[in-house]
Amino acid sequence: MSKKGRIVAGALAPHPPHLIYAENPPQNEAKSEGGWEMLRWGYERLHRELPWDEIDAIIVHSPHWQTYVGTHLLGVPHFKGKSVDPIFPHLFRYNYELDVDVELSKAIHDAGKEAGLQMKMMTNPDYRVDYGTIISCHLANPKWNKPIVAISSERSNAYYNVDVMQERARALGEATRKAVEASGKNVLLLSSNSLSHRHFVTEGELPEDMSKEHITSHMLYLWDMELIKMMKAGRTREMIDVMPEFTANAIAETDAGSLTWMMSTMGYPTYPAEVYAYGSIIGTGNAIVGWHEDPNHPVRKVAQ
Ligand SMILES: [Fe+2]
Repeated sequence: MSKKGRIVAGALAPHPPHLIYAENPPQNEAKSEGGWEMLRWGYERLHRELPWDEIDAIIVHSPHWQTYVGTHLLGVPHFKGKSVDPIFPHLFRYNYELDVDVELSKAIHDAGKEAGLQMKMMTNPDYRVDYGTIISCHLANPKWNKPIVAISSERSNAYYNVDVMQERARALGEATRKAVEASGKNVLLLSSNSLSHRHFVTEGELPEDMSKEHITSHMLYLWDMELIKMMKAGRTREMIDVMPEFTANAIAETDAGSLTWMMSTMGYPTYPAEVYAYGSIIGTGNAIVGWHEDPNHPVRKVAQ
């Protein structure tokens, strides 16, 4: 029998374009004086702690690939283009080039279909990959040396409600896990979303002026901390159970189903997550968090 595929880690990997802008990578046309260091250093620590030698592919679920009829997956081996953030075009104009693990994409597509979900492969070679996918993948792995699988958010929260979205995200997670295990590949999962998501409606003259940055309201901070406490304590089933309430109260970007999909794919970990950073970006709450399969990872050893 061929070897069983594994999920070596999952990460909550938010995608505010500000973090790319602050990093000044060669791919981004806009240039900055820095900013949001705690979050960027958090991403650096996440990158350092991931077992890259073992990882065959990165699977990312993004709120900004919004498909209203079923879940879509990238189905072309190579994409190249320019991604411009529609809200922050002055911060993010990024020339991307990426490889897709089409075999694994198709396997997740098929497993989802088998589970009764509506699934579709994106086979247009000129398709412009969404900025949520690009930013989370860049920050988790700036080398871009691993193929990705990108999954859309099918937004049944728009036609129905957050609860329907969560149920479908759970089912998609189960299908993803089955497909990964059958593939024999080792993967990293990325949930590309912020937590509380209330933005400031105006921006200072210098976007990276850190004297202006803070969470929009104390209530949103408290909600974010409630969720993070559950992550640290390994209470992920409870976290998913309160997700509809959290999403509504914190106006959270978890409405896309990304975090629910990731927890379901990982089988709702009961071990503690490593919180690499928490910070605000134009008022929104962002956490960089890792769930490590390795029982010898320091965050898991402490809990034993
Ligand atoms: Fe977003």
